[in-house]
Amino acid sequence: MSKKQDKTQKAAIADLALDFSSGFKYEPAPESSSHVKLEKQYELFIDGKWVAPIDEKYFETTSPATEQVLSRIAEASAADVDKAVKAARNAYENVWSKISAKERGKYLFRIARIIQEKAREFAVIETMEGGKPIRESRDIDVPLAANHFFYYAGWADKLEYAFPGKKANSIGVAGQIIPWNFPLLMAAWKIAPALAAGNTVVLKPAETTSLTALKLAEVFQEAGLPAGVVNIVTGAGATGAAIVNHPDVNKIAFTGSTDVGKIIQKAIAGTNKKLTLELGGKAANIIFEDAAIDQAVEGIVNGIFFNQGHVCCAGSRLFVQEGVADKVIKKLKDRMKSLIVGDPMDKNTDIGAINSKEQLKKINDYLKIGVNEGAEIFQPACTLPKKGYFCAPTLFLHTSQSHRIVQEEIFGPVLAIQTFRTVEEVLEKANNTPYGLSAGVWTDKGSKIFNMTTKLKAGVVWANTYNKFDPASPFGGYKESGIGREGGLHGLLPYLSLS
Ligand code: NAI
Ligand code: MG
Repeated sequence: MSKKQDKTQKAAIADLALDFSSGFKYEPAPESSSHVKLEKQYELFIDGKWVAPIDEKYFETTSPATEQVLSRIAEASAADVDKAVKAARNAYENVWSKISAKERGKYLFRIARIIQEKAREFAVIETMEGGKPIRESRDIDVPLAANHFFYYAGWADKLEYAFPGKKANSIGVAGQIIPWNFPLLMAAWKIAPALAAGNTVVLKPAETTSLTALKLAEVFQEAGLPAGVVNIVTGAGATGAAIVNHPDVNKIAFTGSTDVGKIIQKAIAGTNKKLTLELGGKAANIIFEDAAIDQAVEGIVNGIFFNQGHVCCAGSRLFVQEGVADKVIKKLKDRMKSLIVGDPMDKNTDIGAINSKEQLKKINDYLKIGVNEGAEIFQPACTLPKKGYFCAPTLFLHTSQSHRIVQEEIFGPVLAIQTFRTVEEVLEKANNTPYGLSAGVWTDKGSKIFNMTTKLKAGVVWANTYNKFDPASPFGGYKESGIGREGGLHGLLPYLSLS
């Protein structure tokens, strides 16, 4: 190497060193949206066709990252919902309950494969409309949605083995109402078991995230699914209520806020409708002194900052055993400083856009509440994009059980930390919440894991990991977190009557 070359190389290394000290700088890596085909306006999907809403009402759907209008969406009235339920009833009586279980399975397999073929388009639309990082929609939401259809496709003709000694009967028309945090995945969670069990469906996506459900309707058409087997009606709460109150719906499946869950439960009390509710959460993520600390810190970050904390099972309460508290908090703060907040279409982004202006307001209100309650707030220095709805990852230290930020679901990238000394103390604190959806335990000791999992009042307990999902594994909560399970064999039960 010549002296000149050597000098140049040294200079380059010095530059790099400078770069490292100020944190990694990533070049933008935006995912292209050129392959995505969105209509200017979407109608309702009823009886296998696109039909205009009777009242001719539409609303706009926008990107939460850019505030740009993406499309116009039909708003279904009670009369449109009635049309959809009639189509679903007709398809149930005359087509879906008549074909063999094996045929039903074939349709589900076909749907799963078409989702895989269109995976990139689904991921981009999910990110454009919902605000979640493209990395997550690409690697988590879309593959899991396809897997859900594959999984339940397999059960369709094996129900007699699923419930040995019993006859598994379909129940009729299922009304399904889903939220905006995992739009495609929640549609798959609801539709796949319903169809596998032999029912037909009327599904309503959330008003801020209708597009992937409407794209899914295109998949149903491409798969040749008989008309009326799945109907998609778009709209807000009133459309959802029209499904809930329709007398010819046999089952309601709802995922969303505990408040609306309670309204639904009251509305159907005294009817024959079956009900599953998947509501809020305030999960405890518990780190013991003997845990692998670096992995635990990654698990904490994944638990609360994944999908901007728009996750019912988010690990929003962190309990750290006293002996490692300083170490964990320091590492956590350092890790938070390296998180990239911004354009969800960029493949480097860790934290994308908050789903809506309303949700951002709710989160910001809680940040004020936390400070006023006397907790210490930590946010890494980061410049948030000027347009769109963004929130920096936030840590609250010195919190206590009585704080609202510890008790109430925030549904944003906000973590409240407490320390503990003993197993009894942390169990008492972790279970002291109206919710009971999920929890996390980090320890080196298998016995401690088993002790905790039997005593934590939560439907799902992750050990030395967090936010892991699999179609074969049932998911759901206790107490105000809900009723019933989705996923796995258990997820078929709400869609069947056994005799
Ligand atoms: P929401 O519960 O109002 O919305 C969820 C779905 O229910 C949407 O499709 C909505 O159109 C529909 N809906 C609203 N009112 C209805 C009614 N009276 N009858 C039937 N359907 C109705 O949730 P929102 O207002 O979007 O979010 C508020 C809070 O709820 C969030 O900040 C979060 O804490 C929690 N949430 C929990 C979710 C979960 O996965 N468990 C998902 C979304 C929100
Ligand atoms: Mg609401």
